[in-house]
Amino acid sequence: MDFFNRSKGGELALLVQPHAPGADASDELAEFTELARSAGAQVLGTLNARVDRPNPRFYLGTGKVEELAALRAELGADLILVNRSLSPVQERNLEAELKCRVVDRTGLILDIFAQRARTHEGKLQVELAQLKHLATRLVRGWTHLERQRGGSIGLRGPGETQLELDRRMLADRVKALEVRLEKVGLQRNQSRRRRERGQLPVVTLVGYTNAGKSTLFNAITGAGVYVADQLFATLDPTLRKLDHLSSGPAILADTVGFVRDLPHDLVAAFRSTLSEVRDADLLLHVVDAADPDRDQRIDQVNQVLTEIGAGDVPQMMVYNKIDLIEGSGARRERIDAGRIERVWVSAAGNIGIDLLRATIGDVLSDERWHGSLHLPMSAGRLRARLFAAGVVQQESMDDGGWHLDIDAPKNRLTPLFGLPDGDGEWLRQRLSFAEVDTR
Ligand code: GTP
Repeated sequence: MDFFNRSKGGELALLVQPHAPGADASDELAEFTELARSAGAQVLGTLNARVDRPNPRFYLGTGKVEELAALRAELGADLILVNRSLSPVQERNLEAELKCRVVDRTGLILDIFAQRARTHEGKLQVELAQLKHLATRLVRGWTHLERQRGGSIGLRGPGETQLELDRRMLADRVKALEVRLEKVGLQRNQSRRRRERGQLPVVTLVGYTNAGKSTLFNAITGAGVYVADQLFATLDPTLRKLDHLSSGPAILADTVGFVRDLPHDLVAAFRSTLSEVRDADLLLHVVDAADPDRDQRIDQVNQVLTEIGAGDVPQMMVYNKIDLIEGSGARRERIDAGRIERVWVSAAGNIGIDLLRATIGDVLSDERWHGSLHLPMSAGRLRARLFAAGVVQQESMDDGGWHLDIDAPKNRLTPLFGLPDGDGEWLRQRLSFAEVDTR
């Protein structure tokens, strides 16, 4: 079909869902279909493929490849998306056999990230991840497949011409990107430190993709940021000041939506972006309460949080979309043996948002420690350590020593209990929350 006459729906894709014998992959396929649409593909059809043991040449069995070729021709698909990670060799063999472009799960997710990246750093990170993914696929050329001008899924970002670059140039580009990213990362750290000096607590929204984070972000802050009914509408964290909380002002950060089986390359590439999550004082874990698989989604998000080193950050649950649940109203309750607050809201319907703000204020007050410490003159070393940790608001001095006014999140104070030379133990005994909460 002539590219220019092609429908606006984008590329015509056929989806392949491999599954173990006897396994039900309908959920996985539904999510993958959503991802494909999100990338701009028009899904013409899907094919389940039982895979007992992956075939090293094609991943799929040869019979399945034949069936796929026939179906592709029948439907007129120009792109095949496979919901697994394929080796470069398998991808190439499939392309040669099927005579059309083949993109695996990692390639598809990278493509979506490439479209959604909004900040400079996000773009750099996606390009880097794409180039690394490509580098392994640059063996012996791509000439077996004449590329169509219209095709773009899996090729966005670095672009087609770069496919022809030799590995050396690619390696140079990767290196240059890494250097630039390091610089950007440095700037981020500086701005984060500035924020820390301003003592504003950071509240970060996390959740499975499409849970409603961006909508909630708008509802809470009243800011008009970009919202789309697509996966990954948000890629880079967006920051807004949150006023009128009982605990004083805070920063609210929106983040990328999590998906299951996030490609490992990407988890690594987004480490610095996700530090917004790791360094948060409080995570608002947003859940689509109307999703029948919501408990599974919660587990998957928690798994990613652990993977990026944010498993211990205090959490609060926000069950969103109650307008879709009959008889459900806004409410607040404690779960997990009373340790976690859960608030039921509708971000789109603007229901329960005040209750949510009140709860955030309460939790943040609980999560901070405010008090004064009296240090004897002989404790100069500990005094310096407390300043270095950025937890001192003010100090005054008298004959007996220093009075330090401390105001900081507990999760920034508890690590100080590990200070050497008895300093940590001294602090532990004086901070009143230490016995109650030794997180
Ligand atoms: P990602 O960027 O993919 O991670 O998504 P997100 O979690 O930021 O979700 P987003 O805010 O983009 O919302 C996803 C979809 O859910 C949009 O179509 C919203 O309009 C819809 N949505 C959000 N909140 C509600 C709600 O309270 N009720 C209903 N019915 N729909 C909602």
